[in-house]
Amino acid sequence: MINLPSIRDQFPVLAREINGYPLAYLDNAASAQKPTAVMDAMKAQSEQAYANVHRGLHTLANETTEAFEAARSKVAKFLGAPSEKNIVFTRGATEALNLCAYGLSHLIEPGDEIIISQMEHHSNIVPWHFLRERYGAVIRFVPVTEEGALDLEAFKAMLGEKTKIVSLVHMSNVLGTVNPIKDIAKWAKAAGAVMIADGTQAAVHMDINVQDLSVDLFCMTGHKLYGPTAIGVLYGTTEIFEQMQPFNGGGEMIADVFEDRVTYNDVPYKFEAGTPPILEAIGLGAAIDWVGQFDSEDIRQHEMALYHAARDGLADLNSVTIVGTTPDKGPVLSFNLQGAHAHDVAQILDKYGVAVRAGQHCTQPLMDRYGIHSTARASFGIYNTLDEAERFVSAVRKAALFLS
Ligand SMILES: Cc1ncc(COP(=O)(O)O)c(C=O)c1O
Repeated sequence: MINLPSIRDQFPVLAREINGYPLAYLDNAASAQKPTAVMDAMKAQSEQAYANVHRGLHTLANETTEAFEAARSKVAKFLGAPSEKNIVFTRGATEALNLCAYGLSHLIEPGDEIIISQMEHHSNIVPWHFLRERYGAVIRFVPVTEEGALDLEAFKAMLGEKTKIVSLVHMSNVLGTVNPIKDIAKWAKAAGAVMIADGTQAAVHMDINVQDLSVDLFCMTGHKLYGPTAIGVLYGTTEIFEQMQPFNGGGEMIADVFEDRVTYNDVPYKFEAGTPPILEAIGLGAAIDWVGQFDSEDIRQHEMALYHAARDGLADLNSVTIVGTTPDKGPVLSFNLQGAHAHDVAQILDKYGVAVRAGQHCTQPLMDRYGIHSTARASFGIYNTLDEAERFVSAVRKAALFLS
């Protein structure tokens, strides 16, 4: 069992009042709040042992390097990676996915196919469009069913000799759908494709073991996992990292620089150009330690109980349409109110202290799939309470009355 009052005490921002109501922060899929343990770890590092990392010969540089590399080991363990050499720090999931596309671009001949899906975040669409524009890649979108699942038969039928890359989201940021990445990776790899999973949302709500999933590449981000912004992770197998070309040049990523040539540092440093986000990586390590003190099944059950309370609380409202109703899903509730714009819904909810996101959620092809231009989205995290889920329901009911 998780001790909610004790957890909430560690998030000072949750004590705020918004428009005279206690804050109900239900925008966790966009960015989660940080516990004091994370902020303290970053502050302590800044105050006591800050310097640039690597190649330093003085004590502060060595201490900072140790803390930075310790964070890499924590990430490796968190993701079930064989070694910290399989972990590249990036500035977020978006940069990790761009690194995948750039690093694998040498695989693409005109007409080669990259399979993604209609439920991808733009961060897992736009980098592949770069390969379409620059190298003639063909992007194929796995269709999404009415309930919000991937059409796996359609996916299997797409796989063929031309498939070079399959890059799919593990858990959708809009539908909440959890895709069967392990099966998908098996099929993709049998077809000879590189398999990438966008684990940005999944890493927050599920136990991840990249070796068990058998993916070649997997990305996540710090700021949704109760960590800081501007830090993300790309896991890759040694084999794929050796094949990938570096994305940014300069700093720690080189071995030697001559007038006529350069040689690269070993993986993972080959992909970490310039001064890395040092404090942010240390903050991510602290977030992983913080999350690691809880039983992941307890967290999952708690978050899903809130999701179910919110969903069931809206069930009798005919004007509400929920987008994403597959049974395999995480605690994300996207919805629309008939005749109302999602922005108006979110603004009314804010009047009652309830923070939700509204818009396309960086998933325009998914919005097009459903013939809508936006949704309002409530997303639950570890510190949310049943009372907050109920206040969300009551605020949506008031919005429905007001906007109908
Ligand atoms: C599924 C998914 N992929 C990628 C991203 C991009 O993450 P970041 O903001 O860390 O670049 C997000 C952020 O919302 C996401 O939800």
